[in-house]
Amino acid sequence: MSSYLIRGGRALQGEAVCQGSKNSSLPILAACILCEGAVELDNIPEITDVDATVKILSWLGCRITREGTHMTVDASDVTTGEIPDELMREMRSSVIFLGAVLARTGRALISAPGGCEIGLRPIDLHLNAIGKMGAKVENSAGVIECTAPEGLKGAVITLSFPSVGATENVMIAAVLAEGETVIRNAAREPEISDLADFLNAMGARVSGAGESTVRIEGVKQLHAAAHTVIPDRIAGATLLAAGAVTGGNICVRGLIPAHLEPVIDVFEQAGNEISIRSDAVVLRGPKRLKSVKTVRTMPYPGFPTDIQPPVTAMLCVSRGTSVVIETIFESRYKYVGELVRFGAKIRVDGRMAVVEGAQRLYAANTLTPDLRGGAALVLAALAAEGESRVDEIRHIDRGYEDFSKTLSALGADVRRI
Ligand code: EPZ
Repeated sequence: MSSYLIRGGRALQGEAVCQGSKNSSLPILAACILCEGAVELDNIPEITDVDATVKILSWLGCRITREGTHMTVDASDVTTGEIPDELMREMRSSVIFLGAVLARTGRALISAPGGCEIGLRPIDLHLNAIGKMGAKVENSAGVIECTAPEGLKGAVITLSFPSVGATENVMIAAVLAEGETVIRNAAREPEISDLADFLNAMGARVSGAGESTVRIEGVKQLHAAAHTVIPDRIAGATLLAAGAVTGGNICVRGLIPAHLEPVIDVFEQAGNEISIRSDAVVLRGPKRLKSVKTVRTMPYPGFPTDIQPPVTAMLCVSRGTSVVIETIFESRYKYVGELVRFGAKIRVDGRMAVVEGAQRLYAANTLTPDLRGGAALVLAALAAEGESRVDEIRHIDRGYEDFSKTLSALGADVRRI
């Protein structure tokens, strides 16, 4: 079990480069299975969710090389569509392989990914959509078998909720399907557009990605391609929140400001001075942050749910009371119980958290409940006077590349033990 020892109370200063996007890399890596050739990928972050995805790709027969953030994936020899339970269990979002293995092999056997710390994570939208495209879907006792021996057929899919994963699975499954697929009420996240750019680079015909209606014209075959993954807007915003909560002055390079408009607005409401450059965001934190009346998470282009925990941690030291409303996941406040150990004054009532800003936070020993909740605890430890410990940081390793090294380079006193 690894932990961070953090001596807080220091303002972060300096420049950091934003990592590649985890939530873009995972579906793009799964989509490599559609292509019987070698794909070159760049800016793939060195995080354990990518390690787990690479394990599944190798199990399925892909040949992979990986140097730092550069990867090649050759899926020429993929024949099986069965992913063993222990590999599925390692990463919640491995359901993203469903569309890819089904489209490539005509069969997919996966285990229901199971809930995680932030919610039940059902996949009904994925399965209904795949069924509409002609697959036979059997879901018994946690094992899901989808078969489409004659291949998938294009269909009009209306999502009752703009699910990111379901939109991605349908896009991937539709690329080699017969005819056109239309997704209505599609998710509009930047990672959807990045996936579409990658699929089109391999010869797919996807249009409308980033809007609510996405069209995919089925093609016969895909060819090799090269793609650089977009920066991780959530990791970048987490670093900005670290600057804000310590009253620091940091520049995050490689970030695409257009991906973070609602987050930048909340940072400014909290009294941070933000300046936007073409590919960087600079944040100068005030001596004392102001509270923000309401922070409500919404599907893109609204305020992203993944940055809710770090921003809630930032609001813990603001002046006044803020209200946070989590509309996407049903239990994304597990980390709040740990924040209270730092002296934070937060009341949670269902989807709402009421944050009463405290003058200061005090060092505490805490336990990371999930990926973004862990980031929130690190931010609180950076703001708290004295030495704090954050345990079970394997959750943080899932989505943040070398988090302690990045923070130390900004002047934080963080040691991994
Ligand atoms: C993706 O998860 C991200 N993960 C999540 O990031 C992110 O929080 C989420 O999108 C929302 O932006 C990856 O991209 C790997 P959803 P996903 O399907 O696809 C319900 C992180 O910290 N739903 O948009 O699972 C679901 O229960 C992670 O990086 C159904 O009801 O999100 C949830 O309440 C956490 N049925 C809501 O929709 C379904 O079939 C949003 O889920 C699918 C989803």
